[in-house]
Amino acid sequence: MDKKTEIIRKRYDRASIFYDLMEAPMEVMALKRWRIEVMKLLKGRVLEIGVGTGKNIEYYPKDLDITAIDFSEKMLAKAKVKAALYDKKVDLRLMDAQHMDFADNTFDTVFTTCVFCSVPDPIVGLKEIRRICKPDGKIIMIEHVRSEKKVLGLIMDVLNPLVVNSYGANINRKTLENINKAGFDEVEVEVENLFKDIVKKIIIYNKKY
Ligand SMILES: C[S@@+](CC[C@H](N)C(=O)[O-])C[C@H]1O[C@@H](n2cnc3c(N)ncnc32)[C@H](O)[C@@H]1O
Repeated sequence: MDKKTEIIRKRYDRASIFYDLMEAPMEVMALKRWRIEVMKLLKGRVLEIGVGTGKNIEYYPKDLDITAIDFSEKMLAKAKVKAALYDKKVDLRLMDAQHMDFADNTFDTVFTTCVFCSVPDPIVGLKEIRRICKPDGKIIMIEHVRSEKKVLGLIMDVLNPLVVNSYGANINRKTLENINKAGFDEVEVEVENLFKDIVKKIIIYNKKY
């Protein structure tokens, strides 16, 4: 693991203590609803990247073969508790999304919720997703990104170092640009704004032309 990744990983180990409490208001306002919507789209062999404390586990459909990874051991420990609590069979693994230990074309569906704000090298992570997702597989992401609005975007840029250094997440990631840079063609990508132009549901049809 490179130094930058190790620093972010440690921040998430630390954040695992207060993560559920800190996210609780957003969960009630909208996140829970968005999570449930994503679960309806899962099919076949499924991978969740950046499972965190396991907030999606409660909503996992019981009949699917789900693997979930995170690079923070402490986040994963909390996810294990949730899997037991909600009686969900999930293969939880300690793994870096930038270097995944899965063969090419393994998964039918790959999904993330609020993860690509923090993957240290998002383009490398997205290329890995493209590799391990089957051709014609689906990649579903709920991600917050930098606003395209001039003033709001600038405010996000100014505040970003504060948020990254204290917590680990970036608030000004250009995730759609990163998706294109990772090799996905624009025609493969479907985008819906969930909150302003900041929180987006992104569906990528992994064509692998
Ligand atoms: C903001 S949390 C979101 C957790 C969860 N997806 C949710 O919706 O509550 C981001 C998670 O991504 C994980 N993460 C960030 N970069 C990662 C990487 N390179 N590999 C694996 N997990 C990563 C962090 O450890 C953290 O648990």
